[in-house]
Amino acid sequence: YQRTFAMLKPGVLQRRISGDIISRIDRKGLKILALKMMVIDKPLAERHYAEHQDKPFFTELVSYMTSGPVLAMVLAGEHAVHQLRVLCGPTNPDQAPPGTIRGDFSEIMNRNVIHASDSPESAEREIGLFFTDQEIHEYEDDNDKWIY
Ligand code: GTP
Ligand code: MG
Repeated sequence: YQRTFAMLKPGVLQRRISGDIISRIDRKGLKILALKMMVIDKPLAERHYAEHQDKPFFTELVSYMTSGPVLAMVLAGEHAVHQLRVLCGPTNPDQAPPGTIRGDFSEIMNRNVIHASDSPESAEREIGLFFTDQEIHEYEDDNDKWIY
């Protein structure tokens, strides 16, 4: 299987929509290997979004991402990276169709509710930033034969 990294951004806990979002991920069949609540500090936010450091929205992005608790997750599945991106929908909520997480729960680009890794390489890099190996759990799941 493939691993991906997801993060429910600040505001999701306050809006009481974390259960709904996790439920969508769960029902899809992606397997939760790790999940934790944390407040990320500025250096971590900057490393996580390092690819955007020269963009005009970078400062605002880092300040928003450190403004409240997030839920960070490691997910696994046959095509976990792509499938999570599909569940999330496009970056800009104006383009995100109903039925996607961003389409259903967000209004503007800088408050688009969820982060999802954009490639298997990004996923492994981001998982390494947020989790130790001990925090990631391999466990048996008899449902696998019904999902795959
Ligand atoms: P993430 O899963 O959060 O990484 O989103 P993404 O992969 O769909 O988009 P990208 O990595 O390009 O951008 C990271 C985040 O920066 C987005 O989720 C937006 O919140 C924000 N962002 C991206 N492009 C813009 C932009 O043009 N303007 C503003 N204000 N924010 C942007
Ligand atoms: Mg991205």
